[in-house]
Amino acid sequence: MPLPDSFMQDLKSRNDIVDVVSSYVSLKKRGRNYVGLCPFHNEKTPSFNLYPENGSFFCFGCETGGDVITFIRKIENLDYMEAVRFLAQRAGIAVPETGYDDGLSKIRARILEINRETAKYYHQILVSETGKTGLEYLQKRGLSSRTIRHFGLGYAPSERFALVDHLRSLRYSAEDMIAANVAVRTRSGSAMDRFFDRVMFPIIDLRGNVIAFGGRIMTNEKPKYLNTSDTPVFQKSESLFAMNYAKNHCTDSLILAEGYMDVIALHQAGFQNTVATLGTALTSAQARLMARYTKEVVLCYDSDEAGQRAASRAVPILRGAGLLVKIIAVPGGKDPDEFIRSHPSDGAIRFRKLIESGANDIEYSLSKIRLKNNLQSDAGRVNYLREAIMVLASIDNELERDIYAGRVSSETGAEKTTILAQAKNQRRKDLKKREEKSFQKIENSLSFVRDDHNPQKHEFFRASNAEEDILAFLFANPDQAVAISDILSPDVFCTDFNRRLYKLILERINETVTTSLSLSDFSESLSSQEQSALAGILAKRSDVPLTRHDIEECIGVLQFENQKKKTRNLEDMNSEDFQEYLAMLRKNKA
Ligand code: GTP
Ligand code: MN
Repeated sequence: MPLPDSFMQDLKSRNDIVDVVSSYVSLKKRGRNYVGLCPFHNEKTPSFNLYPENGSFFCFGCETGGDVITFIRKIENLDYMEAVRFLAQRAGIAVPETGYDDGLSKIRARILEINRETAKYYHQILVSETGKTGLEYLQKRGLSSRTIRHFGLGYAPSERFALVDHLRSLRYSAEDMIAANVAVRTRSGSAMDRFFDRVMFPIIDLRGNVIAFGGRIMTNEKPKYLNTSDTPVFQKSESLFAMNYAKNHCTDSLILAEGYMDVIALHQAGFQNTVATLGTALTSAQARLMARYTKEVVLCYDSDEAGQRAASRAVPILRGAGLLVKIIAVPGGKDPDEFIRSHPSDGAIRFRKLIESGANDIEYSLSKIRLKNNLQSDAGRVNYLREAIMVLASIDNELERDIYAGRVSSETGAEKTTILAQAKNQRRKDLKKREEKSFQKIENSLSFVRDDHNPQKHEFFRASNAEEDILAFLFANPDQAVAISDILSPDVFCTDFNRRLYKLILERINETVTTSLSLSDFSESLSSQEQSALAGILAKRSDVPLTRHDIEECIGVLQFENQKKKTRNLEDMNSEDFQEYLAMLRKNKA
């Protein structure tokens, strides 16, 4: 059963889309609408548009769109019912319990419960006799009991069914334990613990839910870490370890380390702004998450070759999310955890110094190419200059560019003004390339090269455009619906998707007396992808409002195209069908 209409109306009116979105995106007013940098993909020029009039957003860059509920779903990574609850809570209203079939959100809720119970269980075991080896291991690695409690660390005992038995006693089903990935299915079909004889690191999201676990073996066996696979509540490429704590300590900067142990050791040493990815390369989703909370990221990867390679790959991803980037190299081939512990009395102070002396990524890149080239030789200097100009061209801030140009100038003896001019030139080229790329993307989206929701669009290009104009017009002018539906039957629509939207819109207008429609009116009848498509249809027509006269022309186009479609059906007949058709005509005549 869907949620009552009155509730949905209330929810919408108390969650103004501009208010909600502006707590995630910095919006600029443009006419009646707003624009900003899209939170769903990396961009430097804003293509994210917000349309308060119909309560929708649409990004011309990545083609994500929808209403306020879809926005929350995407940005908070929630399903539909969870997003409704989120917004209800935000507005301080209660969600009616309607027996609404929110299957996914129920399973997610159960997985989160199971995870919480699992974390509790593993922690209790750690501090019990059974967990002695685990506790000793963590203590040997320098963790205090306070830290162990703070991070909720645990121990998975070595029996194969310890957790499963415990969860069963709490009445959780084997299915759900397997869905949470704290258990796996044995050949006989029953559930068996996923983790055994490992120290356990719970992974907690920003709302305090335990969403996954990492488990470390205490010997040199492989695999060193075993992590929860992706589940309905966990996507490792979008989560960051310890972000739940770090988000409260990172107005200036976040430290990004590689491993769980690094994060924990740094938090214990007072660097509570440290996070780590979950054993995978940094993704732009993670970079955007960081950019929501901080300005600068201090990259502190292992000093081995793999770590340094990972660091240089992370830089453009972080910069792409608008973050400043600083890179520090931990001396002595150590990871941050080892570094802190190798200086028992003053590890924290030394690490702080390391951060302060850390080079930003520009200095870092310059020093790397400086090492490659011999600046004593002419050829080396020329080569250095050429590569340095590429680096300088990547700097957005002019003042910053000026400073580094000065440095390169004194290193090479080349004129600073020449270097700057060259860098600017290169920058123009780079920008142009980037713009061409993004223009191509927008063009693709406008020319409907791909439209998964409306596959008939290629076939009925003119008609589908007219159909979409009509939909957008109705959206903005619901008072004209009766007049239009009188002269335009849904049957005249050429594409099924638009016909469905047309019917939905008319229905909606019929059942409520409204002066304006909002995209949220359809949040229950359309999938989030279909909503994106509808938001796109509206967004692409928001600049120039359609008039009644336009719509009459559109209806004309539709009628004409519909007729053509019928004759085309005839042309498409193969000769056998055609013979049959002729025979039928003859018979009818006779
Ligand atoms: P310690 O060796 O205990 O100090 O661990 P660490 O936190 O320093 O980890 P390390 O630098 O070796 O690896 C960095 C991160 O990569 C870990 O925290 C894990 O998230 C991940 N990782 C390391 N080894 C494995 C593995 O064998 N399997 C998986 N899936 N992830 C791993
Ligand atoms: Mn380590």
